[in-house]
Amino acid sequence: MNVLGLMFSIGAVTLSCAFPQMKGSCKIPPRLGLAELLEASEQESFPMGHVVRYACRPGYSRYGAAIRMICSEGRWLSVSKGECKKKRCGNPGDIDFGTFELKNEEDFVFGAIVEYSCELGYQMISKYNSIECTADGWSRDLPHCEAKLCPPVVDDSVRVLSTVHDEEYTAGHVINLECKNPNRKLNGPSQIHCTSDGTWNVDPPTCKANRCPPVVDDSLRVLSTMPDEEYTTGHVINLECKNPNKKLNGPSQIHCTSDGTWNIDLPTCKAKLCPPVVDDSVRVVSTVHDEQYTTGHVINLECKNPNKKLNGPSQIHCTSNGTWNVDPPTCKEQKRKKQPCFPPPEVLFGELIGRKKQMYDSGSTIEFKCVSYYKRQGKKEIKCRNGVWEQLPACLVPCILNSNYIKGNHTDLVNAKEKYVEHNKTVKFKCLQTFEISDAKLLNVKCLNGTLEYPTCVKMVPCILNSNYIKGNHTDLVNAKQKNVEHNTNVKFRCLRTFGISDAKLLNVKCLNGTLEYPTCVKMVPCILNSNYIKGNHTDLVNAKQKNVEHNKTVTFRCLQTFGISDAKLLNVKCLNGTLEYPTCVKMAADEITVQPSVESEPHIY
Ligand SMILES: *[C@@H]1O[C@H](CO)[C@@H](O)[C@H](O)[C@H]1NC(C)=O
Ligand SMILES: *[C@@H]1O[C@H](CO)[C@@H](O)[C@H](O)[C@H]1NC(C)=O
Ligand SMILES: *[C@@H]1O[C@H](CO)[C@@H](O)[C@H](O)[C@H]1NC(C)=O
Ligand SMILES: *[C@@H]1O[C@H](CO)[C@@H](O)[C@H](O)[C@H]1NC(C)=O
Ligand SMILES: *[C@@H]1O[C@H](CO)[C@@H](O)[C@H](O)[C@H]1NC(C)=O
Ligand SMILES: *[C@@H]1O[C@H](CO)[C@@H](O)[C@H](O)[C@H]1NC(C)=O
Ligand SMILES: *[C@@H]1O[C@H](CO)[C@@H](O)[C@H](O)[C@H]1NC(C)=O
Ligand SMILES: *[C@@H]1O[C@H](CO)[C@@H](O)[C@H](O)[C@H]1NC(C)=O
Repeated sequence: MNVLGLMFSIGAVTLSCAFPQMKGSCKIPPRLGLAELLEASEQESFPMGHVVRYACRPGYSRYGAAIRMICSEGRWLSVSKGECKKKRCGNPGDIDFGTFELKNEEDFVFGAIVEYSCELGYQMISKYNSIECTADGWSRDLPHCEAKLCPPVVDDSVRVLSTVHDEEYTAGHVINLECKNPNRKLNGPSQIHCTSDGTWNVDPPTCKANRCPPVVDDSLRVLSTMPDEEYTTGHVINLECKNPNKKLNGPSQIHCTSDGTWNIDLPTCKAKLCPPVVDDSVRVVSTVHDEQYTTGHVINLECKNPNKKLNGPSQIHCTSNGTWNVDPPTCKEQKRKKQPCFPPPEVLFGELIGRKKQMYDSGSTIEFKCVSYYKRQGKKEIKCRNGVWEQLPACLVPCILNSNYIKGNHTDLVNAKEKYVEHNKTVKFKCLQTFEISDAKLLNVKCLNGTLEYPTCVKMVPCILNSNYIKGNHTDLVNAKQKNVEHNTNVKFRCLRTFGISDAKLLNVKCLNGTLEYPTCVKMVPCILNSNYIKGNHTDLVNAKQKNVEHNKTVTFRCLQTFGISDAKLLNVKCLNGTLEYPTCVKMAADEITVQPSVESEPHIY
C-alpha cells in the first residue's frame, strides 16, 4: 500500500498575501487534499501566530500528530507531521460456495470493492454481489451462494423415480420418468439429469397424448372431424387432392401414432398417370418417355407378332381419371368362331330325345335313350364341342333265350320263363334230372351284349343192378324189380330175414353216375330163451316152447296169474341180434286183479 498521507511543508503550500491588513497576518488557511479545517470560519484574515487544526476527511484516518498550521508572517506553516491515510476495513473473507475479487484498491481500504461470485452449480441469492469499504466499514453484509436446484417436475401425467427427497435436484442428479398411464408414452427421454445451470438437460417429457403436425401441403384437402391442432394419437384423417386431375401418391387415409407422427409420410398430389401398358404382345408407339402418361396423352398400339391381332382399338388416350379410355387391347391369335355340329350319327338301337335339328351350336347338348330291353352304355347327354360330338353312348343288345338250346343242353330255367334278358343280367339254369354239370357256378350266366353262353349238362350213367351183389350181401330190393336205375335215383334195400345192418339208413342208396353202394346185411345172433328169467319175472311164454328165437322175431309173454304189467305191449319182445328184454310182471293188489284181462284167452301168434 502506498503512503497516502501528505507532507505539509511551508514551501509546498504557497499562499499569497498580496494585501496584508496587518503586518504578518494571513489570509484563509489553505485547503489540504485529505484533510479539512476543523473550525470553519468566515474570517478572511488571521493574525500571526494563529493556529488552525485540520481533521482527515471521511474515509481517512490520521496517522501521527494532529495536523495543524500556524500563521507566520503572512503564511501558513505546517506545525506537525501527521498524515491522513485511507481507512482499512479488514479482509471480509470468503463466503460459502463462493470466491471474491478485490477491485479499485489493492487492499481492503476505503473505496475498495470486493465482488463475490458463486461456484459452479451455485447461485447468488443476495441482491448485491459486492461490498464496499466505506468510512464506516463494509457497506453491507456478505452475499450468500446457494446450490442451484433444477425445478421439480410438475407434470401430473408423469411419475418421477428419484433417490432425492423434496425434489431438491442439484447439479448432476439423474431422475427417471415414466407415464402414470401405461397406455401413454413419454414425449422425450425417460432419463434426464440436472445441469449445473439448475436446468434439466432437456425439458422434462410429458405423457400427454401426442399431437401430430398439421398437414401443411397446400395441394391436399384434409377431411377431418377435428381442427388441425387436435390431431392426437389414433386420430384418422382423410386426404384428397384439391386438384381433381391429380392423384395422391399414397393412401388417402392416415392416422396419428402415439409418437406424434403420422403413420406414414404424408402423400402428395401428383398428376394422375395412366398405367403403363404391360402386355408383352403389344408394342406401344408414344411420344412420352418413361411411360408417364398424363391426361389427354394418346398412344398407338400394334402387335409385335404380325400374325396376331389387337382385340381392341389401336389408339387409346389417357383420361383425367388416370385411366385409359378403354382397357388397352392385347394381341390374340385370330379367334375363330366355334364350329357347330352336324346331327350326330345314328346310335344302333338308340333314339334321340327331342326334335332333331339341322345343326347344333357348339356347347349345346343332345340326349339319347335306348329302345326297350337295350341297355345304355356311356353318357346319356352328349355335348357338341367345336364341331365334334362327344363320345356317343351305345345301346347294348339284350339276349333272347333259345328254348331249343336250353333243352338241347339238358337244362331248364330256374326262374320265370322270361324271353328277353337285358345286357349284364344273370340267367339261372338248372340241369335236367339225370343230367349234371361239372361246376354248378356255370349254371349262372350273364347276358353280354346279346350273347349268352348256355350251360351244358351231360347225361349221367345209370346204374344196372347186380342181383348177385344184392343176394351176396343178404339183401333184397324193397320195390319193383327194375334192372336199370337212373342217376340220382334212390334204390331201397332190405336185409334178408335173420340178417341185419348197423344203420337202417344204409339200406337206402343213391345211384351216382353209374355207381351204387350196395348195402351189406350180416347174419344176426339168435336168442336162446332163459326159462329162469321167464319164471323169475313171473311170466310164461304164450306160444310153443321153442328154445331158439331168430333175430327180429317177436316172443310173446304173459303174466302168471295174480301178476300183472303196467303196459301189455311190454309182453311182446323182439329178439335183436341175440338180445331179448324179458318183461317183468309184478304181484297185483286184490282190486287190480279183477280188471286184469286174462292173458290165457288171447294167445299170440308170430
Ligand atoms: C347247347 O348250347 C349251345 C350254346 O351254348 C348251342 O350252340 C348248342 O347247339 C346247344 N345244344 C343243343 C343240342 O341245342
Ligand atoms: C353288371 O351287373 C353287375 C351286378 O350283377 C353290376 O355290379 C355292374 O355294375 C353291371 N355292369 C354294367 C356295365 O352295367
Ligand atoms: C354289341 O352288339 C352289337 C350288335 O351285335 C354290335 O354292333 C356292338 O358293337 C356291340 N357292342 C359292344 C360294346 O360290344
Ligand atoms: C356185396 O356188395 C359189394 C358192392 O357193394 C360187392 O363188391 C360184393 O361183392 C358183394 N358181396 C357179394 C358176396 O356178392
Ligand atoms: C323184422 O320184422 C318185421 C316184422 O316184425 C319186418 O317188418 C322187418 O322187415 C323185419 N326186418 C328184417 C331185417 O328182416
Ligand atoms: C350182433 O351180435 C354179434 C355178437 O354179439 C356182434 O358181433 C355183431 O356186431 C352184432 N351185429 C349187429 C348188427 O348189431
Ligand atoms: C360219369 O361217368 C362217366 C363214365 O364212367 C365218366 O366218363 C364221367 O366223367 C362221369 N361224370 C361225372 C360228372 O362224374
Ligand atoms: C328177469 O329178467 C331179466 C332180463 O330181462 C333178468 O336179468 C332177471 O334176472 C330176471 N329175474 C329173475 C328173478 O330171474
